[in-house]
Amino acid sequence: MSDAPFSVYDYEARAKLTLPHDFWEFIEAGAMDESTTRRNRSAFEAIKLRPRFLRDVENRKLSTTVLGTEISFPVMVSPAGGHKIAHPDGELATAKGAGMSNTLMMLSTSSHYPMEEVVEAGTGPKWFQLYHRGYEITEMLVHRAEEAGFKAIVLTVDTPVPSPKERDVHNHYKNPFPLGNFLATGEELTAMSGTDEAPDWRPALVPPLTWKELEWLQGLTSLPLVLKGIRTAEDAHVAVESGVNGILVSTHGGRQIDQTMGAIEMLPEIVEASKGQAEVYLDSGVRRGSDVLKALALGARAVSVGRPLYWGLAVNGAEGVHGMLEVLRRELDHDLAACGQTSVEELEPNLVSVPAGWGPGQMYP
Ligand SMILES: Cc1cc2nc3c(=O)[nH]c(=O)nc-3n(C[C@H](O)[C@H](O)[C@H](O)COP(=O)(O)O)c2cc1C
Repeated sequence: MSDAPFSVYDYEARAKLTLPHDFWEFIEAGAMDESTTRRNRSAFEAIKLRPRFLRDVENRKLSTTVLGTEISFPVMVSPAGGHKIAHPDGELATAKGAGMSNTLMMLSTSSHYPMEEVVEAGTGPKWFQLYHRGYEITEMLVHRAEEAGFKAIVLTVDTPVPSPKERDVHNHYKNPFPLGNFLATGEELTAMSGTDEAPDWRPALVPPLTWKELEWLQGLTSLPLVLKGIRTAEDAHVAVESGVNGILVSTHGGRQIDQTMGAIEMLPEIVEASKGQAEVYLDSGVRRGSDVLKALALGARAVSVGRPLYWGLAVNGAEGVHGMLEVLRRELDHDLAACGQTSVEELEPNLVSVPAGWGPGQMYP
C-alpha cells in the first residue's frame, strides 16, 4: 500500500498496521456485543439514494453553518478522548487537521492536551464536550471553555453509567496518558470515571445530571448548549422544551448502551420532534460521502466522525486528519452532483428512500 489513502476505509486499514494492538482495539471497540456499532453501518446501507439527472450541477455549494458558525463542508470532528494514543501531538494535530479543512472540532473533556492549548493549535472553530463529573468540576470546565474561546458546550447525555468494552477488559487496557484538562486539579480519577477512558465496570463516581439540572448548566454560560447522544423523539421533545440549541443524534459509535437502532434510523423522528427549534446533527458510522448526503437528506444540518479521526492521526498526524476529511469532502461533492443536487443546504425532498416501518416503536426490518 504505497499510494495515498483513497477512502476512509483505506485510513482504517493503514491505522491498523501502525497502532499497537490494544490501542487499536480500544478505538474500534463497541459495548457488549457491538451490535449497535454494526447497526450504525447497516442502517446507512439500508437507505437508498434517488438520484435526479439532466440538471446543471456544475456549481456546487458545500459550505454551511452550525449555530451560526461557517464550516466549509458539513462534516465535523466528534469529541473523542485522548488522541495521543494515535499520535504524539494528539489533539493539537487533530485541531490543526480540522483547521486545514476549515471545519469544526469538538474537544472531549478527556483530551490528553489541555483545552487552552488545543484552541491555540488549530484555526477552525471548536465546541467543548462536557462529561459531568460533579458540580465544581463542571463549573470549572465550562468557565475555562468559554474563556478559551470555544463556541458551544456539547453535553454528552448517553453515559449515565460506564459501559464495558469487552475487548478492553481482555486487553487490560489502561489509558496511558494523563488527561490534559485535569493536570493541575488532581481530579483525574473522578473525571475519568464513566467515560470511554474507564474500560472496567466501575460505576460513575458522581450521579449523572438530569433534566432538572439543565437550567443550572445553561445558567453557567452564555454559550449555546448541544445535547449529544439523544436517541428518541421523546427526549428530543424535552430537549427543545428546555431550550437547548442543538441535538447531536449519536449512539456514541455503539460504545455505550448496546442493542439500540443505528443513529441514522433515529434521525427522522428526532428531526421531527425538534420542530426546527434546535439544529440537529448526527454521528456514528459516517464513513462515506453518501452517508453524509443521506443524513442531510433526512434533516441533519451536519455530521461528525469519531473513529476516522484516530485513523487519520495514526496514518499521518494533522495531515492525516486533514486528508481523511478531504476524502469525505470529495465523495460528498461527487455524490451531490451525481444525484443532481447543487447545495448541501437545499437538497430536494425525497432524495432518499428509507425502509418501511422506520419510526418510534415500529417493527423494524
Ligand atoms: C476511542 C473513542 C473515544 C471516545 N470518547 C468520547 C468522549 O470522550 N466523549 C464523547 O462524547 N464521545 C466520545 N466518543 C464517541 C464519539 O464522539 C462519537 O460519538 C463516535 O465515535 C461516532 O461514531 P464513529 O466512531 O462510528 O464515527 C468516543 C469514541 C471513540 C471511538
